[in-house]
Amino acid sequence: MNELTITTPDDWHLHLRDSSRMEAVVGDTARQFRRAIIMPNLVPPVRNVDDARAYRERILAALPPGSHFQPLMTLYLTDNTSPADIDAASDSDFVFGAKLYPAGATTNSDAGVTDIARLDAVFERMQARGFMLQVHGEATGSEIDVFDREKVFIERSLERIRAQFPELPIVFEHITTRDAVEYVAAADDRLAATITPHHLLINRNAMFAGGIRPHNYCLPIAKREVHRQALLQAASGGNRRFFAGTDSAPHSQSDKESACGCAGIYSAYSALELYAEAFEEAGDFSHFEAFMSLSGPAFYGLEPNTGTVTLERREWTVPATLPFPDSPLIPFRAGEVLHWKLRGNTNE
Ligand code: DOR
Ligand code: ZN
Repeated sequence: MNELTITTPDDWHLHLRDSSRMEAVVGDTARQFRRAIIMPNLVPPVRNVDDARAYRERILAALPPGSHFQPLMTLYLTDNTSPADIDAASDSDFVFGAKLYPAGATTNSDAGVTDIARLDAVFERMQARGFMLQVHGEATGSEIDVFDREKVFIERSLERIRAQFPELPIVFEHITTRDAVEYVAAADDRLAATITPHHLLINRNAMFAGGIRPHNYCLPIAKREVHRQALLQAASGGNRRFFAGTDSAPHSQSDKESACGCAGIYSAYSALELYAEAFEEAGDFSHFEAFMSLSGPAFYGLEPNTGTVTLERREWTVPATLPFPDSPLIPFRAGEVLHWKLRGNTNE
């Protein structure tokens, strides 16, 4: 097989940043995807419908001429989010969920939730409105091993939320473990998960190959090979509750290559091609279109996109650096050869 044509895909988890950084990266996503769920972890965060409206307008204004890309906005849950904030967002036609960051879990999560019990009234309203909860599923206590944080989050937090709010639709974002795959597969149809291209393509060795590799560092951190294999099977296996969300998270080279380097992998430059690479490794493209383009919209209650994109089997090299304010951006797989290329993609 040398060609793959699928319905135009969407990215169900994306960090675009703001201002000149956002302007530097938004075109990469808009070249490949029609829609993306936009993460709200700006500084300060996107806390209410007014913040989301203003951020959406800045994104639309930064799009390349002629682009049909649609940003799907989210709110950032804090200890002070109110049920009225949920109503206002739910009444809008441009906010598609609210993101739970346990405080301290990751980049720009300081304003996150310190105790999920404080959100009971908010979850209650989200459940009543059928409003999506997106979760960064990592427990944060400093006593918890960084490789165990996802599993502990399932046991201590996700179980409790689902038991208390059984009708609440939840996306367990960027899952990284076999435990999460099994948990989601065994759950009812209110729970789905996104999977990133990098967690499909690297295990934790990639952070230490010949020396410390900051550009392979993200949160949740990459895990052992056994977990990567479980993710590959989940993504390629056809279960409609697993779908694509890149978690592409740009940080400048100087912020990554530092004594305290930021977490985040920039995969947006070649996201669709990276997913194709992963499915090639899994050896089965039969559910590629469902994973990239159909299952996400179905879970979010949206129509799939119209139109198609075509990938061709062709070798090309990911650039070493990309332009970014202050210092360059190093894309995932920089300088390496990929084997699938989106037809008409001008990213060479
Ligand atoms: O690696 C990550 N980077 N994980 C996240 O959850 C946030 C993201 C970012 O915003 O940089
Ligand atoms: Zn993210």
